[in-house]
Amino acid sequence: MHVFVTGASGHLGSALIPELLDAGHRVTGLARSDSSAAAVAALGAEVRRGDLDDLDGLRQAASAADGVVHLAFKHDAMQAGSMLDAAAADRSAVGALGEALAESGSGKALVIASGTLLLAFAGVQGRAGTEADFAESGPRIDSENAVIALAERGVRSSVVRLPPLVHSDLDQHGFTSALIRFARTAGYAGYPGDGANSWPAAHTLDVVRLFRLALEQAPAGSRLHAAADEGVPLREIAEAIARNLDLPAKSVPAEEVPGYFQFMAPFIGLDNPTSSARTRELLGWAPTHPGLIADIDAGHYFTAGSE
Ligand SMILES: NC(=O)c1ccc[n+]([C@@H]2O[C@H](COP(=O)([O-])OP(=O)(O)OC[C@H]3O[C@@H](n4cnc5c(N)ncnc54)[C@H](OP(=O)(O)O)[C@@H]3O)[C@@H](O)[C@H]2O)c1
Repeated sequence: MHVFVTGASGHLGSALIPELLDAGHRVTGLARSDSSAAAVAALGAEVRRGDLDDLDGLRQAASAADGVVHLAFKHDAMQAGSMLDAAAADRSAVGALGEALAESGSGKALVIASGTLLLAFAGVQGRAGTEADFAESGPRIDSENAVIALAERGVRSSVVRLPPLVHSDLDQHGFTSALIRFARTAGYAGYPGDGANSWPAAHTLDVVRLFRLALEQAPAGSRLHAAADEGVPLREIAEAIARNLDLPAKSVPAEEVPGYFQFMAPFIGLDNPTSSARTRELLGWAPTHPGLIADIDAGHYFTAGSE
Protein backbone atom coordinates (compact mmCIF):
# COMPACT_ATOMS: atom_id res chain seq x y z
CA MET A 1 0.00 0.00 0.00
CA HIS A 2 1.22 3.55 -0.69
CA VAL A 3 0.80 5.32 2.65
CA PHE A 4 0.90 9.07 3.27
CA VAL A 5 2.06 9.81 6.84
CA THR A 6 1.70 13.24 8.46
CA GLY A 7 3.90 13.89 11.50
CA ALA A 8 6.43 11.58 9.87
CA SER A 9 9.37 13.25 11.63
CA GLY A 10 7.85 13.03 15.11
CA HIS A 11 8.20 10.52 17.93
CA LEU A 12 5.59 8.13 16.57
CA GLY A 13 6.04 8.92 12.87
CA SER A 14 9.74 8.11 12.92
CA ALA A 15 8.96 4.72 14.50
CA LEU A 16 6.02 4.07 12.18
CA ILE A 17 8.01 4.55 8.96
CA PRO A 18 10.28 1.51 9.53
CA GLU A 19 7.28 -0.49 10.77
CA LEU A 20 5.46 0.20 7.47
CA LEU A 21 8.49 -0.26 5.21
CA ASP A 22 9.35 -3.57 6.88
CA ALA A 23 5.81 -4.76 6.16
CA GLY A 24 6.28 -3.98 2.45
CA HIS A 25 4.42 -0.67 2.22
CA ARG A 26 5.61 2.39 0.33
CA VAL A 27 5.66 5.54 2.52
CA THR A 28 5.50 9.25 1.73
CA GLY A 29 6.05 11.45 4.78
CA LEU A 30 4.99 15.07 5.26
CA ALA A 31 7.81 17.38 6.35
CA ARG A 32 7.63 21.11 7.00
CA SER A 33 11.35 21.91 7.32
CA ASP A 34 14.69 20.88 5.84
CA SER A 35 15.68 19.06 9.02
CA SER A 36 12.39 17.14 9.18
CA ALA A 37 12.69 16.27 5.48
CA ALA A 38 16.21 14.95 6.04
CA ALA A 39 15.04 12.85 9.01
CA VAL A 40 12.15 11.35 7.02
CA ALA A 41 14.39 10.60 4.01
CA ALA A 42 17.01 9.00 6.26
CA LEU A 43 14.34 6.54 7.44
CA GLY A 44 13.78 5.46 3.84
CA ALA A 45 10.51 7.26 3.09
CA GLU A 46 9.74 9.62 0.23
CA VAL A 47 9.29 13.22 1.35
CA ARG A 48 6.43 15.58 0.62
CA ARG A 49 7.19 19.11 1.76
CA GLY A 50 4.28 20.98 3.32
CA ASP A 51 2.48 22.31 6.34
CA LEU A 52 -0.68 21.13 8.08
CA ASP A 53 -2.36 24.40 7.12
CA ASP A 54 -1.85 23.72 3.40
CA LEU A 55 -5.15 21.93 2.94
CA ASP A 56 -4.84 21.66 -0.85
CA GLY A 57 -1.48 19.97 -0.40
CA LEU A 58 -2.98 17.51 2.09
CA ARG A 59 -5.81 16.72 -0.34
CA GLN A 60 -3.36 16.07 -3.20
CA ALA A 61 -1.16 13.82 -1.06
CA ALA A 62 -4.14 11.83 0.22
CA SER A 63 -5.56 11.42 -3.30
CA ALA A 64 -2.26 9.99 -4.48
CA ALA A 65 -2.12 7.44 -1.63
CA ASP A 66 -3.96 4.22 -0.83
CA GLY A 67 -4.08 5.10 2.84
CA VAL A 68 -3.22 7.90 5.26
CA VAL A 69 -1.91 7.88 8.83
CA HIS A 70 -2.37 11.31 10.39
CA LEU A 71 0.04 11.94 13.29
CA ALA A 72 0.96 15.62 12.90
CA PHE A 73 -0.33 17.91 15.61
CA LYS A 74 0.57 21.48 16.50
CA HIS A 75 2.08 20.62 19.87
CA ASP A 76 4.04 23.88 19.74
CA ALA A 77 0.78 25.86 19.66
CA MET A 78 -0.75 23.61 22.33
CA GLN A 79 2.17 24.09 24.72
CA ALA A 80 2.01 27.85 24.14
CA GLY A 81 -1.57 27.71 25.46
CA SER A 82 -3.48 27.60 22.15
CA MET A 83 -5.03 24.13 22.44
CA LEU A 84 -8.21 25.32 20.74
CA ASP A 85 -6.25 26.64 17.73
CA ALA A 86 -4.26 23.40 17.51
CA ALA A 87 -7.44 21.32 17.69
CA ALA A 88 -9.15 23.50 15.07
CA ALA A 89 -6.19 23.09 12.71
CA ASP A 90 -6.35 19.34 13.30
CA ARG A 91 -10.07 19.26 12.51
CA SER A 92 -9.44 21.15 9.23
CA ALA A 93 -6.59 18.83 8.27
CA VAL A 94 -8.67 15.73 9.02
CA GLY A 95 -11.49 17.19 6.93
CA ALA A 96 -9.20 17.75 3.95
CA LEU A 97 -7.64 14.29 4.17
CA GLY A 98 -11.03 12.63 4.61
CA GLU A 99 -12.65 14.48 1.68
CA ALA A 100 -9.83 13.47 -0.64
CA LEU A 101 -10.01 9.82 0.39
CA ALA A 102 -13.80 9.73 0.10
CA GLU A 103 -13.64 11.19 -3.42
CA SER A 104 -10.70 9.20 -4.73
CA GLY A 105 -11.72 5.63 -4.19
CA SER A 106 -13.71 3.29 -2.02
CA GLY A 107 -12.16 1.52 0.89
CA LYS A 108 -9.08 3.71 1.26
CA ALA A 109 -7.80 3.78 4.84
CA LEU A 110 -7.52 6.80 7.14
CA VAL A 111 -6.07 6.30 10.63
CA ILE A 112 -5.69 9.23 13.02
CA ALA A 113 -4.21 9.63 16.49
CA SER A 114 -6.30 10.75 19.42
CA GLY A 115 -5.89 10.37 23.17
CA THR A 116 -7.43 8.32 25.99
CA LEU A 117 -7.41 11.34 28.33
CA LEU A 118 -10.34 12.66 26.29
CA LEU A 119 -12.46 10.00 27.98
CA ALA A 120 -11.55 11.33 31.42
CA PHE A 121 -12.33 14.88 30.30
CA ALA A 122 -15.63 13.55 28.92
CA GLY A 123 -16.56 12.19 32.36
CA VAL A 124 -15.83 8.45 32.10
CA GLN A 125 -15.23 7.75 35.79
CA GLY A 126 -15.10 4.86 38.23
CA ARG A 127 -14.31 2.25 35.57
CA ALA A 128 -11.93 1.63 32.70
CA GLY A 129 -12.82 3.53 29.52
CA THR A 130 -13.63 1.32 26.55
CA GLU A 131 -13.55 1.70 22.78
CA ALA A 132 -17.34 2.11 22.87
CA ASP A 133 -17.07 5.31 24.94
CA PHE A 134 -17.13 8.60 23.10
CA ALA A 135 -18.15 12.22 23.59
CA GLU A 136 -20.38 14.31 21.36
CA SER A 137 -18.02 17.23 20.80
CA GLY A 138 -14.93 19.05 21.99
CA PRO A 139 -11.34 19.80 21.00
CA ARG A 140 -9.86 16.73 19.24
CA ILE A 141 -13.12 14.85 19.91
CA ASP A 142 -14.54 16.62 16.82
CA SER A 143 -11.68 15.17 14.74
CA GLU A 144 -12.40 11.68 16.13
CA ASN A 145 -16.10 11.94 15.32
CA ALA A 146 -15.47 13.32 11.82
CA VAL A 147 -13.19 10.39 11.05
CA ILE A 148 -15.67 7.83 12.36
CA ALA A 149 -18.40 9.45 10.22
CA LEU A 150 -16.26 8.95 7.09
CA ALA A 151 -17.10 5.24 7.32
CA GLU A 152 -20.48 6.18 5.81
CA ARG A 153 -18.66 7.63 2.80
CA GLY A 154 -16.61 4.57 1.89
CA VAL A 155 -13.46 5.44 3.83
CA ARG A 156 -12.02 2.64 6.00
CA SER A 157 -11.54 5.07 8.85
CA SER A 158 -10.24 4.43 12.35
CA VAL A 159 -9.07 6.35 15.39
CA VAL A 160 -6.23 5.15 17.63
CA ARG A 161 -6.57 6.65 21.10
CA LEU A 162 -3.11 6.89 22.62
CA PRO A 163 -2.31 6.71 26.30
CA PRO A 164 -0.76 9.90 27.71
CA LEU A 165 2.40 7.91 28.47
CA VAL A 166 3.91 6.51 25.26
CA HIS A 167 7.39 5.52 26.40
CA SER A 168 10.65 4.10 25.02
CA ASP A 169 14.18 5.21 24.26
CA LEU A 170 12.68 6.89 21.18
CA ASP A 171 10.67 9.25 23.42
CA GLN A 172 12.49 12.58 23.78
CA HIS A 173 9.75 14.99 24.87
CA GLY A 174 6.69 13.04 26.02
CA PHE A 175 4.98 13.16 29.39
CA THR A 176 7.37 10.59 30.96
CA SER A 177 10.29 12.90 30.18
CA ALA A 178 8.33 15.86 31.54
CA LEU A 179 7.61 14.08 34.85
CA ILE A 180 11.32 13.30 35.21
CA ARG A 181 12.18 16.94 34.47
CA PHE A 182 9.71 18.16 37.10
CA ALA A 183 11.27 15.81 39.67
CA ARG A 184 14.79 17.04 38.93
CA THR A 185 13.64 20.64 39.23
CA ALA A 186 11.79 20.15 42.54
CA GLY A 187 14.28 17.75 44.13
CA TYR A 188 11.57 15.14 44.68
CA ALA A 189 9.29 13.00 42.50
CA GLY A 190 5.75 14.19 43.07
CA TYR A 191 2.30 12.74 42.62
CA PRO A 192 -1.08 14.46 43.01
CA GLY A 193 -3.12 13.74 46.16
CA ASP A 194 -2.62 10.15 47.31
CA GLY A 195 -1.36 9.17 43.83
CA ALA A 196 -4.01 6.50 43.41
CA ASN A 197 -5.28 7.91 40.09
CA SER A 198 -3.94 5.84 37.22
CA TRP A 199 -2.99 6.43 33.60
CA PRO A 200 -2.60 3.94 30.76
CA ALA A 201 0.74 3.57 28.99
CA ALA A 202 2.31 1.83 26.02
CA HIS A 203 5.72 1.33 24.45
CA THR A 204 6.34 3.28 21.21
CA LEU A 205 7.00 0.10 19.20
CA ASP A 206 3.78 -1.55 20.38
CA VAL A 207 1.89 1.64 19.49
CA VAL A 208 3.20 1.84 15.93
CA ARG A 209 2.42 -1.83 15.39
CA LEU A 210 -1.18 -1.03 16.27
CA PHE A 211 -1.20 1.84 13.76
CA ARG A 212 -0.01 -0.58 11.05
CA LEU A 213 -2.64 -3.15 11.97
CA ALA A 214 -5.33 -0.45 11.92
CA LEU A 215 -4.16 0.73 8.51
CA GLU A 216 -4.19 -2.79 7.11
CA GLN A 217 -7.22 -4.33 8.78
CA ALA A 218 -9.42 -2.11 10.95
CA PRO A 219 -13.06 -2.17 9.92
CA ALA A 220 -14.46 1.22 8.86
CA GLY A 221 -15.43 3.40 11.80
CA SER A 222 -13.27 1.69 14.48
CA ARG A 223 -12.22 3.36 17.71
CA LEU A 224 -9.10 1.60 19.00
CA HIS A 225 -7.15 1.82 22.24
CA ALA A 226 -3.33 1.59 22.32
CA ALA A 227 -3.27 0.86 26.05
CA ALA A 228 -0.68 -1.81 26.94
CA ASP A 229 -0.73 -0.96 30.66
CA GLU A 230 -4.40 -0.43 31.53
CA GLY A 231 -3.61 1.96 34.35
CA VAL A 232 -0.44 2.73 36.31
CA PRO A 233 -1.02 4.68 39.55
CA LEU A 234 0.71 8.09 39.50
CA ARG A 235 2.28 7.22 42.83
CA GLU A 236 4.01 4.15 41.33
CA ILE A 237 5.31 6.28 38.46
CA ALA A 238 6.71 8.84 40.90
CA GLU A 239 8.33 6.08 42.97
CA ALA A 240 10.02 4.63 39.87
CA ILE A 241 11.34 8.06 38.90
CA ALA A 242 12.46 8.68 42.49
CA ARG A 243 14.50 5.47 42.77
CA ASN A 244 16.23 6.17 39.44
CA LEU A 245 17.09 9.75 40.43
CA ASP A 246 17.87 8.82 44.03
CA LEU A 247 15.29 11.31 45.25
CA PRO A 248 12.30 10.94 47.60
CA ALA A 249 8.76 10.45 46.25
CA LYS A 250 5.92 12.33 47.89
CA SER A 251 2.56 13.97 47.36
CA VAL A 252 2.62 17.48 45.90
CA PRO A 253 0.64 19.85 48.17
CA ALA A 254 -2.51 21.02 46.37
CA GLU A 255 -1.42 24.66 46.28
CA GLU A 256 1.89 23.66 44.65
CA VAL A 257 0.38 21.48 41.90
CA PRO A 258 0.34 24.27 39.23
CA GLY A 259 3.98 25.14 39.90
CA TYR A 260 5.20 21.56 40.13
CA PHE A 261 3.32 20.02 37.19
CA GLN A 262 3.32 23.14 34.97
CA PHE A 263 1.45 22.45 31.68
CA MET A 264 0.33 19.05 33.00
CA ALA A 265 -1.34 20.56 36.09
CA PRO A 266 -4.84 20.82 34.55
CA PHE A 267 -5.05 17.07 34.01
CA ILE A 268 -2.51 15.43 36.36
CA GLY A 269 -5.28 14.49 38.83
CA LEU A 270 -7.50 12.74 36.27
CA ASP A 271 -8.12 9.02 36.63
CA ASN A 272 -7.87 7.39 33.19
CA PRO A 273 -7.76 3.57 33.38
CA THR A 274 -8.35 2.35 29.83
CA SER A 275 -9.25 -1.05 28.48
CA SER A 276 -7.88 -2.25 25.13
CA ALA A 277 -9.73 -5.59 25.22
CA ARG A 278 -11.80 -4.91 22.10
CA THR A 279 -8.76 -3.66 20.16
CA ARG A 280 -6.77 -6.78 21.03
CA GLU A 281 -9.64 -9.02 20.02
CA LEU A 282 -10.40 -7.15 16.80
CA LEU A 283 -6.85 -6.83 15.44
CA GLY A 284 -4.88 -9.46 17.35
CA TRP A 285 -2.78 -6.69 18.91
CA ALA A 286 -0.60 -8.10 21.70
CA PRO A 287 1.98 -5.74 23.23
CA THR A 288 5.40 -7.38 23.54
CA HIS A 289 7.63 -4.53 24.76
CA PRO A 290 8.28 -3.53 28.40
CA GLY A 291 5.59 -1.85 30.45
CA LEU A 292 6.02 1.68 31.79
CA ILE A 293 7.62 0.90 35.15
CA ALA A 294 10.04 -1.65 33.66
CA ASP A 295 10.96 0.84 30.94
CA ILE A 296 11.61 3.62 33.48
CA ASP A 297 13.74 1.17 35.48
CA ALA A 298 15.67 0.25 32.31
CA GLY A 299 17.43 3.58 32.86
CA HIS A 300 17.52 5.13 29.37
CA TYR A 301 15.48 8.15 30.51
CA PHE A 302 18.26 9.05 32.96
CA THR A 303 21.37 8.89 30.79
CA ALA A 304 23.21 12.04 29.65
CA GLY A 305 21.46 13.42 26.58
CA SER A 306 18.03 12.38 27.89
CA GLU A 307 18.10 15.18 30.46
N1 LIG B 1 3.40 10.47 22.12
C1 LIG B 1 2.41 10.47 23.01
O1 LIG B 1 2.63 10.14 24.18
C2 LIG B 1 1.00 10.85 22.59
C3 LIG B 1 -0.03 10.70 23.53
C4 LIG B 1 -1.31 11.05 23.15
C5 LIG B 1 -1.56 11.50 21.86
N2 LIG B 1 -0.52 11.64 20.98
C6 LIG B 1 -0.82 12.13 19.62
O2 LIG B 1 -0.17 11.30 18.66
C7 LIG B 1 0.24 12.10 17.53
C8 LIG B 1 1.73 11.92 17.30
O3 LIG B 1 2.42 12.30 18.48
P1 LIG B 1 4.01 12.39 18.57
O4 LIG B 1 4.37 12.08 19.98
O5 LIG B 1 4.64 11.64 17.47
O6 LIG B 1 4.21 13.97 18.33
P2 LIG B 1 5.56 14.78 18.04
O7 LIG B 1 6.77 13.95 18.34
O8 LIG B 1 5.42 16.10 18.72
O9 LIG B 1 5.52 15.00 16.47
C9 LIG B 1 4.60 15.91 15.91
C10 LIG B 1 4.74 15.87 14.40
O10 LIG B 1 3.84 16.83 13.84
C11 LIG B 1 4.58 17.65 12.94
N3 LIG B 1 3.99 18.98 12.88
C12 LIG B 1 3.74 19.82 13.91
N4 LIG B 1 3.20 20.97 13.44
C13 LIG B 1 3.12 20.83 12.09
C14 LIG B 1 2.67 21.67 11.06
N5 LIG B 1 2.18 22.90 11.31
N6 LIG B 1 2.73 21.21 9.77
C15 LIG B 1 3.22 19.98 9.50
N7 LIG B 1 3.67 19.13 10.45
C16 LIG B 1 3.62 19.56 11.73
C17 LIG B 1 5.97 17.69 13.52
O11 LIG B 1 6.90 18.12 12.55
P3 LIG B 1 8.38 18.70 12.95
O12 LIG B 1 9.25 17.48 13.17
O13 LIG B 1 8.78 19.49 11.77
O14 LIG B 1 8.20 19.50 14.20
C18 LIG B 1 6.15 16.22 13.93
O15 LIG B 1 6.46 15.45 12.79
C19 LIG B 1 -0.20 13.51 17.86
O16 LIG B 1 -1.48 13.74 17.37
C20 LIG B 1 -0.23 13.50 19.38
O17 LIG B 1 -1.04 14.53 19.93
C21 LIG B 1 0.74 11.32 21.32
